Amino acid sequence: MKIFAIESSCDETACAVVEDGQVVLSSVISSQIEVHRPFGGIVPEIASREHLTRIMGIADQALQESRCSWSDIDAIAVTQGPGLIGSLLVGISFAKGLAMALGKPLIPVDHIHAHIYGAVLGLDATSRARLQFPLLAMVVSGGHTNLYFMKESLDFNLIGYSMDDACGECFDKVAKMFGLSYPGGPEIEILARQGESDAFAMPKQKELKGPPFLFSYSGLKTHMVNTVRQQGGAPSGKTLADLCASFQKAAFDQILSKLKEVLKTHQAKSLIISGGVSANGFFRKQLDSTLNLPIFLPGLAYCGDNAAMIGALAFQQITKATDLYNRPPVFDWDAYSKYNFKNTNDLHQN
Ligand code: KG4
Ligand code: ZN
Repeated sequence: MKIFAIESSCDETACAVVEDGQVVLSSVISSQIEVHRPFGGIVPEIASREHLTRIMGIADQALQESRCSWSDIDAIAVTQGPGLIGSLLVGISFAKGLAMALGKPLIPVDHIHAHIYGAVLGLDATSRARLQFPLLAMVVSGGHTNLYFMKESLDFNLIGYSMDDACGECFDKVAKMFGLSYPGGPEIEILARQGESDAFAMPKQKELKGPPFLFSYSGLKTHMVNTVRQQGGAPSGKTLADLCASFQKAAFDQILSKLKEVLKTHQAKSLIISGGVSANGFFRKQLDSTLNLPIFLPGLAYCGDNAAMIGALAFQQITKATDLYNRPPVFDWDAYSKYNFKNTNDLHQN
């Protein structure tokens, strides 16, 4: 089954054709980073206007690169949220028009859940067989630090999240403080390679027992503000590299120790780590050397926002749906990134 997928929740206009939820026939991503960089972050109004001008061309390119024609496409999938409301509207309106014109079903997809399925793209049969439920899935991105315990493919049971800043957001804010450009995560990772991770003392995370398993990044961020002040302003040279390395290690230590804690009570057979921050090479190495279970990470092209992951999750949804061809899709608008607990009582039982 071939799904044409569309993603426009933030600052990437992306379209992809994905076969059977796993084989990427094409994936085109048009990033707006250069447009937003002078502002030090995403400007929502500009983002939606950029999506409008780009989406037609990106859709054409994705279809062409897949070597498919519209008649080969079985369904259209689109990010329904969470995201910037104006940006979401562009992708959703485009997808609705496309589905209606082609007479194909339209599948609304949750952006955060789709990040998890980014990790199955391109897996060979042997690796796919190792990806077993129940599993732990963690989305570490610019907007979320979410942890799910999944008993089966569409069972996204949120058991952990950040009570303040997201991990990627913290990277971006600290980078800005250092005078680095947006997005800050990759910049910090590169500088950290020349630094010593034990050069600066970092705050110890307060022990918070879960569930819910709580992450927190505002304390680390404040600590970095104070350190930069003590240094007399934005650091440079070896001091900057040492600060990047120390900060990066502290940011990931928190995730690693929380995952170790979760694995004591949740019998997971595999672990998925995805989202923009999962591109970090230092993090990838630490995961491998710290945790003892099969770990799945997306290929670097599918860590950040992309449409292929939307197609991957849409395939799971379409294979479970029974009446997709007979009813219009139900959009659960979620522009505010609400936490949708499946069963609140579950969170308080060990
Ligand atoms: O998943 P994503 O592309 O967009 C959201 O849905 O948020 O994630 C973007 C985030 C940004 O905060 C960016 O700084 C961070 O991912 N990021 C990284 C790295 N590459 C991207 N953080 C740390 N190390 C990286 N190599
Ligand atoms: Zn994302």
